[in-house]
Amino acid sequence: MSREFTLPKWYDLHTHFRQENQMQAYIAAHKAMGCAGALAMPNTQPPVAVVFEKDEGASGYWSIERYMRDLNVAGAREFEVLIVPLYLTKETTPDMILKGAGSGVLKACKAYPPHGTTGAEFGAPLMTHIDNGVLKAMEEAGVVLCVHGEEHGLSPTAYFDRHSNAEEVFYKERMGRVRDAYPDLKIVCEHVTTKVAVDFVKESGEMVAATVTPQHLIYTIGDLIQGLKYHLFCLPVVKFEEDREALRGAVTASGNRKFFAGTDSAPHTMKATECGCAAGCFTGGVAPQLYAHGFEMAGVDMGSVAGQAVFQAFLCDNGARFYGLEPSSETFVLVKEPSRVDPVNTPQGSVVPLPLGVNEPELGWSIKL
Ligand code: DOR
Ligand code: ZN
Repeated sequence: MSREFTLPKWYDLHTHFRQENQMQAYIAAHKAMGCAGALAMPNTQPPVAVVFEKDEGASGYWSIERYMRDLNVAGAREFEVLIVPLYLTKETTPDMILKGAGSGVLKACKAYPPHGTTGAEFGAPLMTHIDNGVLKAMEEAGVVLCVHGEEHGLSPTAYFDRHSNAEEVFYKERMGRVRDAYPDLKIVCEHVTTKVAVDFVKESGEMVAATVTPQHLIYTIGDLIQGLKYHLFCLPVVKFEEDREALRGAVTASGNRKFFAGTDSAPHTMKATECGCAAGCFTGGVAPQLYAHGFEMAGVDMGSVAGQAVFQAFLCDNGARFYGLEPSSETFVLVKEPSRVDPVNTPQGSVVPLPLGVNEPELGWSIKL
């Protein structure tokens, strides 16, 4: 098999770069893995929940322009693409959407289940954005809806049990209604983890797509539970074999145009706390190597032309096309050669990339820029 192959640089269409003196290290880690752009999630403190603010900070939220300025100073300036979605709160208005989109600053909005994950405490139930006209305005203005698809406020057994979980409830009970009510709204079902969500995306038309993380392609709930490997704890949590099979099938299908890379790399310098564990897996610096491993686990021959084509569609092409972005003209090389994974240091402490903290700190693949 060929030991290496060249790919266009790619855009990570779901990541977390955080804020202040942590950003620089995370952006650098993304560049080191052949990333030429990113969609940087807005769940900062405070969240990025306004567009344009004459009196910066008056609302108590950050504006998209302010966060983009910070990201650019921390190194994102060299990216070809930088998208910051607007965090949808109960205060988001259709007018904000139309003005933001009109100016070209607003390309996407992020819906979080209230209190459903890290930094989701400002989220509003999806119904709110239906009732107040925000989704309608997004549909009109061509703004993409990025959805964290988990139902909030469930009892523990409905949240996660053998026959149902928060993601399945959300896709069965909510998403069909949103899709059907706004047929021209572009929807990204973020970090899908279940067969139910995969089937929803497949059954929907071309306005509905999904991101898939490396960890959900590689691991199942057993990997997390056996030894309580908390570096693998993210939300939505890794699921069962049947779900992983569905994800692998979707991303490796020839002709896949709907499923694309969005790592949800979510660094936490403090993972385990006295009252629980912060949700988020860090995959900065290692995501293409992990995705390649996931594709191999799914049976793809990464030495073949066909195997490399489905991998490129997933990592580089599908997401750019869905978001209407020019593909990068630069390239990087993925090499079938082992490499070591080390913690990434920031002034706030270090973060541990997968697979460190779960199994051997070794990857089967390396990157050459
Ligand atoms: O595991 C997660 N971590 N899921 C999310 O949705 C948010 C993320 C974070 O920001 O840490
Ligand atoms: Zn995320």
